[in-house]
This record gives sequence, C-alpha cells and structure tokens, in this order.
Amino acid sequence: MAFATRHFVRAASSDAATAAAKKLLIKHVTIIGGGLMGAGIAQVAAASGHTVVLVDQSDEILKKSTKGIEESLKRVTKKKFADKPEAGAEFIKTTLKNLTTSTDAASVVHSTDLVIEAIVENLEVKNELFKTLDKFAPEHTIFASNTSSLQITKMANATTRQDRFGGLHFFNPVPMMKLVEVVRTPMTSQKTFESLVDFSKAVGKSPVSCKDTPGFIVNRLLVPYMMEAVRLFERGDASKEDIDVAMKLGAGYPMGPFELLDYVGLDTSKYIIDGWHSLEPNNPLFAPSPLLNKLVEEKKLGKKTGEGFYKYK
Ligand code: NAI
Repeated sequence: MAFATRHFVRAASSDAATAAAKKLLIKHVTIIGGGLMGAGIAQVAAASGHTVVLVDQSDEILKKSTKGIEESLKRVTKKKFADKPEAGAEFIKTTLKNLTTSTDAASVVHSTDLVIEAIVENLEVKNELFKTLDKFAPEHTIFASNTSSLQITKMANATTRQDRFGGLHFFNPVPMMKLVEVVRTPMTSQKTFESLVDFSKAVGKSPVSCKDTPGFIVNRLLVPYMMEAVRLFERGDASKEDIDVAMKLGAGYPMGPFELLDYVGLDTSKYIIDGWHSLEPNNPLFAPSPLLNKLVEEKKLGKKTGEGFYKYK
C-alpha cells in the first residue's frame, strides 16, 4: 500500500511536470482594441515584462490610449514607489518600452503568443476579426476575448483553433481590479487553459475559472442584482438613494446598485440584459426594465454622458 501510494504520488507529480512543460510561456501579446479595457490590459501586460502591441483603428485613438496609459502609470508609480521616485521613473520607462502600437492587426500577429480582443461588444465584428487573424497568427498562438456577455464558443467557432481559444475577462479599471475570469469552452485544451491562468498570474491578477455560461461568475450575479434594484425602484418600493445607502451600509458594498449602473454605463447594462433575455426569454432574472430602456433612449447613459440615474457635473 505504501509502495502504491508512493508510486501514485511520483506518477502524479511527473504528470504535473509534463503538463507544466507543455504549457505555453506567454511573452509576446497583441491586444486588439485600445479603449477602456484594451488600454488597461496593455498596461498591466507591459508593466509585468511582456512585449505588447496595442492595436486600434486609427493613430489618433492609439495616441489617446497611450496618453491614458502614461497617466495611469504615473498614478500607480506614485503609490508603488512613493519613497523611490527614481525607481518609479525607471518602471514607467521600461513599461513604455515594452509597448508599441499599430493600426494593422494582421501585420503584427505573426510572432505573437497571445491575442487578446477587447473591441466593440458585437459578435459579428469580433468573429470577423478572429477569422482574419486566424489566417495570419502562427499555429501556437492562443486567442482570447475579453467579452462581458457574448459566448466564447461562438467566437472560437469562427476560427480553426478552437482548442487554443478561451475567455480572459478583466475588470474595470484593469490596473486596480485584481480578478480575471478565465473562461474555457468545451473545446479549450488543458494546455491553453493553464497558459491563460499562468498569464493572468504573471500580470498580477488572481484568476478564477468558469465555463462558457452567460455572464461567467461576476456578471451572472451582479447584473440580475442591479436589475432587481431597478425593479424595486420602478415599483416605488424604495427610492434609488435609499437602495444605494442600504446596500452600502447593510451589505458592505462599496457602491450602491444605481451608482454602479451609472459607472458601468446604462447602455452596456441594457445590452447585456437584452442579450441574455433573447437567450432565455422566460428567465425572470433576465427580464428587461422599462425605466432602464427609457433612460438609454434619452441618451442618459450614466457617468460618461453626465446623467444616468444620477446627475454628474
Ligand atoms: P471601448 O469602446 O472603450 O473600446 C473599444 C475599442 O475597440 C475602441 O477604441 C474602438 O476603436 C476599437 N475597435 C472597434 N473595432 C475594432 C476593430 N475591428 N479593430 C481594432 N479596434 C477596434 O470598449 P471597452 O469598454 O474597452 O470594451 C471592450 C470589450 O471589453 C467589450 O467586449 C466589453 O464587453 C468588454 N468589457 C468591458 C468592460 C467595461 O467595464 N467597459 C469590463 C469587462 C469587459
């Protein structure tokens, strides 16, 4: 028995070693989409020693993304290197040296280990992009999407590398938020999954894993919670201010649901709930809200437009 146990332990650890040896060490990353999320992911990847190419549709957008990254790096550095300004300056310099930009995704993916897509939340547009990149990226390259609400499986099926495809769902603001949801489809290989987990750790995040189910973990719980708060308010059961105070003081949440909705963007929330509603029309958790729809129609989208549930100066 003792021999059997020892033998088993030895076999298991050698299996683990073989699996680890097979994992892809991600060094070079291409990020498509230099908006809110893509710029944040580019920043943390470059800051952790990866060489990064950030891709967007125009040089003007990329200039804005780079400026945003520089500003964010300054803020991070102020905290991280409070007593060592020289080390801080060196950190910013090295990070920016790791980062280049391009407007032509197809021409930069030839030597990349990982492509992370963070473009507009539209399945057709994402599929078109992945289909094109599939032709230009090397065999070993892993593709990942940062989508919040679309099915990873559908994107993987637009390519010929379904086993090298997964979800990497970062949270906003990326440099601050520690979580990454690593999403595996039924086709994602163990090697791909482990490589994505390792990459998430390498950029300083705490990965959790989830199957390809609507909303993964966080949004699956958070979006119905926010929608239920809207329904409570719509019925006149409580004011939005009281609901926000209640959830902050009673549940210890840092923001109330209406503050969070305004922060996320009401259009984004509506888009997510509408998508899930069309997948599962009888699920009351995914029911649309007339009030949310009205605010979006009036272009009151939250903080970014100066008004949502609340007004912002
Ligand atoms: P965003 O609108 O700030 O940025 C998207 C960027 O993609 C824009 O700069 C746009 O010019 C660029 N783009 C669009 N089509 C492109 C193409 N074909 N090729 C290259 N660039 C293209 O959007 P955001 O908020 O960064 O979201 C991006 C993705 O991340 C979406 O899938 C979204 O669901 C997801 N996400 C968003 C979160 C958020 O809080 N905003 C949180 C987690 C995920």
